[in-house]
Amino acid sequence: MIVIGGSASTSLAEKVAKQLGQEPGRIEIKRFPDGEKYIRIHEEVKGQDVALIQSLYRTPDEYVFEYLLIADTLRDMGATSITGVTPYLAYARQDSRFYPGEALSSASLAKFFEAAGTTSIITIDCHLHRLGDVSKVFKIPAQNVSAMNLLGKYARENLRPKKPIVVGPDEEAEQWAGTVAKELDAEHTAFTKRRVRKEGETKSRLEMDTGSVDVKGRDIVFADDIISTGGTIAEAAKACKKKGARRIFVLCTHPVLADGALKRIRAAGATRIVGTDTIPSPISTVSVAPVIAAALKTRP
Ligand code: R5P
Repeated sequence: MIVIGGSASTSLAEKVAKQLGQEPGRIEIKRFPDGEKYIRIHEEVKGQDVALIQSLYRTPDEYVFEYLLIADTLRDMGATSITGVTPYLAYARQDSRFYPGEALSSASLAKFFEAAGTTSIITIDCHLHRLGDVSKVFKIPAQNVSAMNLLGKYARENLRPKKPIVVGPDEEAEQWAGTVAKELDAEHTAFTKRRVRKEGETKSRLEMDTGSVDVKGRDIVFADDIISTGGTIAEAAKACKKKGARRIFVLCTHPVLADGALKRIRAAGATRIVGTDTIPSPISTVSVAPVIAAALKTRP
């Protein structure tokens, strides 16, 4: 299999290729003076299986279009299969039409990827609140793998929490808290969160219920898929501090980190915030390369 990284994931593609004992496939990506992308693939891909790694963060529209150009070129060049590896799958949160006329962006994205020749998808801790699984979005085989074991292992070896309780800041995050808790041999729980978004707005207000869990004197380890504005973790951290929690550690797969998120979470009392390299960021300490390499080895 040839591993090729788009410009969003050059470094991650190198790490994945290394895990598989090879060099990444050579690709040239430049810009024309008018801002359009120039793509040239310097590999013989005819008759080959190709993994195209492109995380869709920060400037997702640019990375999506670049992905489509590369995938379509690979198909034209005769690649046998194209596994799209999108560690952070943009638009996944728009999986429902909340108000009439809104774009069902996750479904549209899936159709575009398929139309460009993608034959299967691998993504990581994908946020599909309502649909539950990425295989419901794509018609081609689509697999979601998790970085939570790696994050839990990192916490065990490096953060060493005392009397830990692992907390998912909302109901959906309970699954991730459970995985991390196993790595830490700790108990876990989940809070209840409600987002209220007014018609016509993109920002929402948070309502959080921490339940009756006793956190006094204990280290909290939050586990969540995404930190975007940091509002969810900041609210949850403040609530734990108020109840007498000791240190607050935060683990997340995708450090989207919009709008001063780190500052907001630190101000709420967090001791350490650890993320992965699905999105390069100041907290991207843990690499997801091993889970991607493992998924590529065992893909159907
Ligand atoms: C949502 O339910 C997710 O699991 C995250 O908790 C959420 O996307 C984080 O967003 P923010 O950091 O803006 O609160």
